[in-house]
Amino acid sequence: MFPSPTGSGMTMRKLIGLLVIAGCAGEAPSTVPGVDASDVDAAPEGGQRVSGKAMDYFAADTPLANATITTDGIEAVAMVQSASDGAYEVANVPAGSKVFLAVARASYRTTRNIAVAVEDAPVTRDVYVMSVADVNRQYATDGKPVNVGKAFLAADLKDAAGMPLAGIPLANVTLTDVDDQPIPALIGPYFFGAQGDINPALTTAEANAGRSRVAFLDVPPGTFKLSVTYPDGQGGNATTVTQVTATAGGAVIASGGGAIPGAAPADPTFATNIYPRLQKAANDGLGCANCHTANGSGGILVMDAGAATTLANIMARPGAINTAAPADSLLLTKPLYEPAPAVQNHPNATFLDANDPDYKLFLLWITNGAKP
Ligand code: HEC
Repeated sequence: MFPSPTGSGMTMRKLIGLLVIAGCAGEAPSTVPGVDASDVDAAPEGGQRVSGKAMDYFAADTPLANATITTDGIEAVAMVQSASDGAYEVANVPAGSKVFLAVARASYRTTRNIAVAVEDAPVTRDVYVMSVADVNRQYATDGKPVNVGKAFLAADLKDAAGMPLAGIPLANVTLTDVDDQPIPALIGPYFFGAQGDINPALTTAEANAGRSRVAFLDVPPGTFKLSVTYPDGQGGNATTVTQVTATAGGAVIASGGGAIPGAAPADPTFATNIYPRLQKAANDGLGCANCHTANGSGGILVMDAGAATTLANIMARPGAINTAAPADSLLLTKPLYEPAPAVQNHPNATFLDANDPDYKLFLLWITNGAKP
């Protein structure tokens, strides 16, 4: 089960909402009435620009004009359009955020991309969208009727070194609900072949043109777990679990397998393991202290005041740490991404899901008694 975050902070969320700007097609992106660009730049959060091109997923190197890109994972939602050369730009994404970009376009399935991690620098990331015709061809390849109420999922597979994962059997890739139960009427998985489409004849993953991919058809709307088991490079196997969210009639791009996160400390302490993660992204932290400073938007809980003071500040906030029900601690639930229809509980999401290594580290620290 993923924990269900509780609580809200409407006043501060509205304030943050003003700083996240939705640009319009062909316009400079800073267009919030009453907030000029210099005010935005002076914001203590130092929001960053995420930009790149909207591209066709199946037709390589094809930029797309008139695609609508919508954020998910930050308050407020920003919506921008790609220009004639496919270029898009989302301004002022808070440092420390992980943000999903969904791309919509006429004759295309609305396609949810892999989350973009935003730290203390602008991020360049192309986003992809799948045409209805291309997705229909994937169904036709295995003689399956297209179910327009369900989603198409494609995931890149990486090995322990982050290279395309070849050689694993179909059984090593599963998609289940969040309680690890099978999804009724799900079709797949299928590996992609050399033609760039799924190939029902393939029983092991292949690397083609520098990538290895897997797909599922008829993913119902909702949030699911993609599990990929792969050789860990040390004679054993590792399994990576990723949370994916599908929308009716949409498409999802995900990533599975891949670099194994470093071993978590057995008994984390605040000063050694937690405090450094709370610091600014520029200081190799998760970016909490980009906002949680005395004068920042998260000034309700100051996190950059030295380890002992920061711990005292956290302990003084009701519900921030809940040793009786560790997963309910606000320190975990506030920055945790919340799948729709839930609205984000916090200005930005930092933990994509309960599989996030930092989420697990914080949870272990609280479970073990939140040691200083
Ligand atoms: C973009 C700015 C921003 C970032 C980055 C940020 N926060 Fe926050 N946080 C806020 C704001 C604003 C509030 C108060 C409004 C609310 O509760 O949503 C808040 C509230 C909280 C609260 C509840 C405090 C209370 O006592 O009510 C916790 C706990 C928290 N944040 C933890 C974190 C952690 C942990 C991180 C980093 C992983 C983080 N925040 C990153 C802006 C931010």
